Order: sequence, then C-alpha cells, then structure tokens
Amino acid sequence: MSEQPQHPRRPRVAVVFGGRSSEHAVSCATAGGVLRAIDRGKWDVVPIGIAKDGRWVLAADDPEPLAIAPGHLPEVDPDAAAVLVPLSTRDRSLTVLEAGEPPRTLGDVDVVLPLLHGPFGEDGTLQGYLELADVRYVGSGVLASAAGMDKHYMKVVFAAAGLPVGPYRVITDRAWRADRVAALATLEGLAYPLFVKPARAGSSMGITKVHDASGLEAAVEAAREHDPKVVVEEGIVGREIECAVLEGHGTDAPRTSMVGEIAVHGAHEFYDFEAKYLAEADVDLRCPADLPAEQADEVRRLAAASFEALGCEGLARVDCFVADDGRVLVNEINTMPGFTPFSMYPRMWAASGLDYPSLIDELLTLALERRTGLR
Ligand SMILES: Nc1ncnc2c1ncn2[C@@H]1O[C@H](COP(=O)(O)OP(=O)(O)O)[C@@H](O)[C@H]1O
Ligand SMILES: [Mg+2]
Repeated sequence: MSEQPQHPRRPRVAVVFGGRSSEHAVSCATAGGVLRAIDRGKWDVVPIGIAKDGRWVLAADDPEPLAIAPGHLPEVDPDAAAVLVPLSTRDRSLTVLEAGEPPRTLGDVDVVLPLLHGPFGEDGTLQGYLELADVRYVGSGVLASAAGMDKHYMKVVFAAAGLPVGPYRVITDRAWRADRVAALATLEGLAYPLFVKPARAGSSMGITKVHDASGLEAAVEAAREHDPKVVVEEGIVGREIECAVLEGHGTDAPRTSMVGEIAVHGAHEFYDFEAKYLAEADVDLRCPADLPAEQADEVRRLAAASFEALGCEGLARVDCFVADDGRVLVNEINTMPGFTPFSMYPRMWAASGLDYPSLIDELLTLALERRTGLR
C-alpha cells in the first residue's frame, strides 16, 4: 500500500554562482541576496560555487561573506570540497569529493538556479552542461543565452525580427590582427561619441566612451582585454529605460514589468562599473520611470518582442534607450540580469506587485514546469 508522505520532499535547488568571468564577484553578491531571501520552507537549498579556475565546490550556506563592499570583492574558495554533477540522464545526484574522505552523495538535484553573469555562465556554456546532465535550470537555454551574451549576434537577431537597434560595427579578432588601420576605417560614418565594447562581457567592463578618432585604438585594445571581438556603437543621447520580462506559464505570453529608469550623475560619463556597484550615490534607479505612457508601453512591447526574438526562457531584462529625438531603441538583453534585492530586475517586479522571495519562487516553479531536452 502506498501512502502519501506527511511532508513531501521539498524540491532541491542548487544555487550556482561565481564562475570564470570578470563578473565573479557580482555573481557572488547575487547569490548572497538569493540565499538570504529564498523560502527555506519550500526549497531545499544547496549552494555551489564555481571558483575562478572553473572548479565546482560546495559553498557555505552563508550570505555574509558574499556581499560586495568597498575594498572587498567576494570570491568562491577554490579549495573547498569539490561537487560533481553527473553527465547522465539516469543520475541527477550530486557527489561531494573531499581530500582524504570517501565520496559522499548529496542526493538528487531537482533544479539549478544559475546565478552567473558573463562568459562561461550566462553565455550558454553552463546551460549546455546542464542540458548534457539532463537537469532542469532557471532561465534561457543554450542558444538564447549565447546570443544574448554577444552584443553582435544579439543585434543581428533583433534587427532580423524588425526591432530597432542603433548603428554599430563589429571588429573581429582577425580583422584587428590583420590590419588595424583598415579595421578602424570601417568605423567611418558612425557619429561620435562612440561606445567601444567587448562583444561578450557585462557590468560595463572594458567599455570606453570615445569622443574622437584619437581615442579609438586604445579603446579597442581595452575592450580586447575582455574579448577579442569588439562592437563599436554610435552613442545614443537619451534616457536609459529598462523592463523586466518573465516567461508565461504554459502557453501564456511573456509578462513585462513596469519600466524603470537608470539616471547617472556625478563624475560618471555613463553607467560604468563604478556607478553600478561602488558609487551608488551617483545613480538613481527609478521605478516606475516617469515616462509618457506611450513610450513606456513601447518599451514593454519591445522587451517582450526581444525575449521572443531570441527564444528566451525564464527571465530577461531588456534595456532600451528612449532617445531625445523620440526614438525607442533596444540597447541589450540580459538573460541573467543583476539579481540582488537592490538590482533593477527584482525592483521592477517588486514595483509591479511581485516581491523578491515570490520572484525566486516563480522562477524556480517555471523551471520545474518545463521539460528537459529540446523544447
Ligand atoms: N550606444 C550607446 N549610447 C549611449 N550610451 C551607451 C551606449 N552603449 C552603452 N552605453 C552606456 O554604457 C552602459 C553599459 O553598456 P551596455 O551595452 O549596457 O553593457 P553591459 O552589458 O556591460 O551592461 C549603458 O548602461 C549606458 O550607460
Ligand atoms: Mg547594460
């Protein structure tokens, strides 16, 4: 005779964070926020850190050391016990390996919450690993993650879907190494100031605002510190307006939040790394943004259309420019946006009636509802 258990097992969530990208510390901060807020009555949490060298380790279930503070960038301890996720459709158990101890199993993982930003985490590589392991995970799959990470292919997809993007050029590694004078010549016709960016980075790392041709070469070199592929864009004069998107349940359309605005002042020429994480006094995050309803609706429409154009799943934040001449352009999509309780994505949902712990529940529920394999 089978009996319903008195207390059904809570789904086990592996909160994965850290990683090999330059946004390691930002990812740790996000994980700290989630570990603090996640409803332990509903979810059985296993924190897994990915060290800067790529090693997966069992992390302490403690948000304290994960916070970013002036002079302190948190980091996953590479020497903690290793964790293995088997690459098999028959086995979803986590194994812990500690020096001098026999391997021990942590039991099955039901869903992974990959809180990684940047390459080797947000870009489809980790998602590919989880596909191979046949484990459910929060957020976009391989293709949407990869295209969303790449500021070049993101624009190719958006433009093909009829979404408005600003003028830009790409300088590939080969073009730069073959003839940098010729590569710089391809930028003629773009109006200054220009934004020179690594194609696949985030948190404004490696981005330079360039006011005339004399600054271009150094800016390309700075971007290439992060990615051999560089994107150069015309600077847009206007406001930065963002919208949070959540996948719908079943066959429902994606949901969009109220739109928010990032307003940067002080010494920052744009929303740079300092402004994002260290000089919060110089930035106003406003939600809802004080914007005419027509423009706010247009941003929301573009946000949902961008999500669908890339085939995103779970969540994404879509960042737009509302230009002073009235145009609304898509700047970028983030398939794993900043996700601390103070980050724009959760704040936009909070302003729209979904608080941070409920948002975490919603994302995990969406991930558990979806099937593994091709979707
Ligand atoms: N084409 C542009 N015109 C005006 N400002 C820009 C442009 N591109 C980037 N910026 C500024 O730089 C910031 C970071 O650029 P973004 O493309 O969003 O990179 P990241 O992925 O690092 O966030 C933006 O939030 C904005 O302040
Ligand atoms: Mg951005």
